[in-house]
Amino acid sequence: MSSNMRSAVAISILASALQVNALERRIPDGQGLTPLMGWSSWNVAQCDAASARYALDTANNFISLGLKDLGYDHVNIDDCWSTRERDSEGNLVPDPNKWPNGIRAVVDEIHGLGLKFGLYGCAGTLTCASFPGSWGYEEQDARLLAEWDIDFWKHDNCFTPCDNGALPQTCWSGNIDTRPWYATFRDALIAVSDIKPITFNLCNWGRNSVWEWGADYGHSWRIEGDNWGDWESVIRIGARASTIAEFSRPGGFNDLDMLFVGNGVLTESQERLHFGLWAIAKSPLIIGADLNTIGDSSLTILKNKALIDINQDSLGVPAEPFVPPGAPAPVNGQIYPYWAGPLSDGVVIGLSAANGAGTFSVNFSDVPGLGEGSFSWEEAYSGTTGTGTSISFDLAQDDFVAIKVTTQ
Ligand code: GAL
Repeated sequence: MSSNMRSAVAISILASALQVNALERRIPDGQGLTPLMGWSSWNVAQCDAASARYALDTANNFISLGLKDLGYDHVNIDDCWSTRERDSEGNLVPDPNKWPNGIRAVVDEIHGLGLKFGLYGCAGTLTCASFPGSWGYEEQDARLLAEWDIDFWKHDNCFTPCDNGALPQTCWSGNIDTRPWYATFRDALIAVSDIKPITFNLCNWGRNSVWEWGADYGHSWRIEGDNWGDWESVIRIGARASTIAEFSRPGGFNDLDMLFVGNGVLTESQERLHFGLWAIAKSPLIIGADLNTIGDSSLTILKNKALIDINQDSLGVPAEPFVPPGAPAPVNGQIYPYWAGPLSDGVVIGLSAANGAGTFSVNFSDVPGLGEGSFSWEEAYSGTTGTGTSISFDLAQDDFVAIKVTTQ
């Protein structure tokens, strides 16, 4: 063998060793194969809802309202659950006013109901609401979480280094690579996965195009800044999701953020579009409303079994815009009217009136994954069914329909 050939062989052995390493560093398989479903405290009442009372009420409501039977199983507590200081051994401490019996007792009770429990933390020195972050404590924190038997961890990115090493609450600089922080916590979670495997959510607001690398780091990743509970947020996040569907797959999903359905901030049509779009885009479906007081029409939307089944379909491929003949091209920052995505036994078509009311008609032969011929279909919100070669719906401003077309 010539020395050139020998070095080529050496390089290729090194490359495959590196590849094996990269694969070994991936988050363990078998978790997050479908988008996570549950509830989070943040949109309910921010810091005030990060308590045992809210967690246990939600768990019981999951059962009494029939949400558990539909797949909602994670009770996730967001920012503000801890005290402002670690203890003398450096451990995070549950705020005794919010968690009189600690976290573990609540986790056990929630597990006893057949449900799961999630918590929130941050890669930086502080969380976004200025509670202790995991910077420099990653292994210790991951061990504590595993010992508490938690099921899910959301890792935020406040108070991390910005340009010039400053540690502001929020840094939007594109020069900063957020990956190493998520790698550190991922590896800390992998190291304790024999005690407890924990589903890992990356909350870096889409920095560094997280969708391109998130699957090597966690099970889902926030693609945008927060859903602030206004219609503009739904449009902004939905528009972003329309361009990055290719990156979501079983084990790693684009996270469009927690829902604002049932919070009294959107109209009924807007709530239908918000939930429907999140469902067909294969986002985690995380309720952000107070289940003690939620109104009937919002609860009906959140309990839509047809949309939940589409969201949880084993194929795990998001819908994305398609352009029927004669329709205008998608516009950046808007929610396009026509969406389609494959399912294990068919295709889902989403029709959105975010840009205006009207009649929306589609020939199945123009839809990706369908073609010539007659198909049976069912619309998720109305339950309307039909068979044929096309569909047509009249939609009011901001309304949404999702049509499952069966091919098998
Ligand atoms: C934000 C995050 C929100 C929420 C909040 C808590 O950074 O995007 O989802 O977790 O922090 O302070």
